[in-house]
Amino acid sequence: RIVEWDISDAEKEGYPHFMLKEIHEQPRALRSTLHGLMSDAMMGEAAEMLADADTVFVTGAGTSYHASEYFALISMRLAERPVIAFIASEYGSYVNAAGPRDVLVAVSQSGETMDTLKALRAFKKRGSRVISLTNAVDSAIARESDVAVYTRAGPEIGVAATKTFLTQTLALTWLAVETATRIGSLRGGEEMELLKELESTPKHVEESISTTSELVKKLAERIAGSKSMYYLSRGVGLPVAREGALKIKEIAYVHAEAYPAGESKHGPIALVEPSFPVVFTIPNDAELQRMLLGNIEEMRARGGVIVGVLPRGSELRERVDLAIEVPRAHWIATALTHTPPLQLLAYHVASLKGLDPDKPRNLAKTVTVE
Ligand code: G6P
Repeated sequence: RIVEWDISDAEKEGYPHFMLKEIHEQPRALRSTLHGLMSDAMMGEAAEMLADADTVFVTGAGTSYHASEYFALISMRLAERPVIAFIASEYGSYVNAAGPRDVLVAVSQSGETMDTLKALRAFKKRGSRVISLTNAVDSAIARESDVAVYTRAGPEIGVAATKTFLTQTLALTWLAVETATRIGSLRGGEEMELLKELESTPKHVEESISTTSELVKKLAERIAGSKSMYYLSRGVGLPVAREGALKIKEIAYVHAEAYPAGESKHGPIALVEPSFPVVFTIPNDAELQRMLLGNIEEMRARGGVIVGVLPRGSELRERVDLAIEVPRAHWIATALTHTPPLQLLAYHVASLKGLDPDKPRNLAKTVTVE
């Protein structure tokens, strides 16, 4: 009914790996998801529920946690209310603070991750209502939630999540805008402007992939020998930095840490020496850029190789060693515009090292144990 998969979706269609195919499929996955968001009444119900809630919690594991954190940050900026994001397996520290007037948003590609399912059940026991966002109809998490919203990314075969992260961040940002509209925290006309921005994301992602691919390949050659690297950002860029670091750890086995850039001077900077790679995710937001500039200078002063993923035309391009320019979209679309080059970087480093990006060691696509 909702997610219809064709058998050809499960074939590589000429790409050497599913991961690369799925990165290139992102514009299509976003178009289907957008189509679903506009036609599914569940989105409106979910927004009503959130607008009515006392406290909103949001949870997920791995990449789905990064989408959850992104949702919390966007929601707090748009709706000016606290939203608490937590890692699913840590639910025990949060659940006692939840009650019947609260709502949990559970995010999971597969809808079967045990950590997320346990968090959902624990919140339900406290009387909280649950909204799920999954990519699989009739998955356990979708079934056990009060309102089920779906991404329509199609089957994702590569173990590392790619297109499902972009569709999750799109759906969750849409939900944040709809909720803020109901709360009344947006300026007149802002809702239409933001939704229009989100409707443009398939086009922006297409461009982000096609214009950065070659440059990212060269960057991969430069850093393929690195054992360790940092991904730094601020604000909505932070979950994107976390996702970049997770991707390169998962499939290229490079030790990568993501940090809030402002926090990097409180410890992480001790490791930065000549040729240490530092990747900055730089959102299209003047205030965040102003603050990030200082952090870029600190890292440069220690001789780090500074890479900036930034909106086209940003003045910060002169301040980094390698500027990877992405479409100049609204800051709410940062996860969509900035993630593709980070996925490609992980993919190419893995390929250069002769690793199979579709089957990383020790990892499973879906983890149904605690
Ligand atoms: C596993 C996968 C990750 C994924 C996580 C959560 O660890 O390897 O790629 O992000 O599970 O999966 P979910 O299906 O709940 O999004």
